[in-house]
Amino acid sequence: MRIEGITLGYGDTLVQQDLSFDIRCGDVFVIMGGSGCGKSTLMRCLTGLLAPWAGRVLLQGESLWERAPAGRSVLMRRNGVMYQSGALWSSMTLEENICLPLEQYTELAPEQMRAIAEYKLALVGLAGYGDYYPSEISGGMRKRVGVARAMALDPDTLFFDEPSAGLDPISARRLDELILELRDSLGTTMVVVTHELDSIFTIADDSVFLDAETKTMLATGNPRELRAASPVVRVRAFLNRGDAG
Ligand SMILES: Nc1ncnc2c1ncn2[C@@H]1O[C@H](COP(=O)(O)OP(=O)(O)O)[C@@H](O)[C@H]1O
Ligand SMILES: [Mg+2]
Repeated sequence: MRIEGITLGYGDTLVQQDLSFDIRCGDVFVIMGGSGCGKSTLMRCLTGLLAPWAGRVLLQGESLWERAPAGRSVLMRRNGVMYQSGALWSSMTLEENICLPLEQYTELAPEQMRAIAEYKLALVGLAGYGDYYPSEISGGMRKRVGVARAMALDPDTLFFDEPSAGLDPISARRLDELILELRDSLGTTMVVVTHELDSIFTIADDSVFLDAETKTMLATGNPRELRAASPVVRVRAFLNRGDAG
């Protein structure tokens, strides 16, 4: 995925400008930066939900925002998105939640969909939980179901917005491990929005740092290398803050 000169905002308020970087296939790529700098806004642009003011998002050479809406939704189907809190329907079982995107986008028979749902639950370590309701499992498990649902259509790229928000440190770490396991076993490219240093140093191969003050990116690269050697003071300060890492 290639991001070329992207500028983003809402109404007449600029959020980020002049973003250019590549997301390599099979990497865990982290979008990092302080609260309110525009991480979620950038993710909305990359997933086809928010048009940029300028610039291009190229998916295997095809420009997401220069397509008509129908063509754009075909490109978007290659992406899976896990939203904050998993965003599951409380009145549906876990299996029914995972089957939703299959019902929407495929012609599979119900028993094929159920088999896929059961397989995706197994992939996230929840084999046998298909008949449970979201309220019957822990917050960490709900997030894993959110991952299973995001993977229902076998995406090339999975997007996560603050996946460990609201989780205890152990559940957060398990979610990080799951992201790495799935990347390694399926080869899925992972794009993760986060400001958590533990998570950044555990999972990221590559990253972009967005700055709220200058409203642009101040660095791109491996966060461990940036922590040690970024020439930009604000990037080093962000990556060396507190006691984490
Ligand atoms: N739907 C929206 N309409 C207007 N402004 C928004 C909207 N969503 C976010 N913003 C503003 O855009 C900026 C970036 O927000 P966001 O992308 O959510 O930051 P982050 O995810 O890095 O915390 C913030 O100033 C926020 O208030
Ligand atoms: Mg956000």
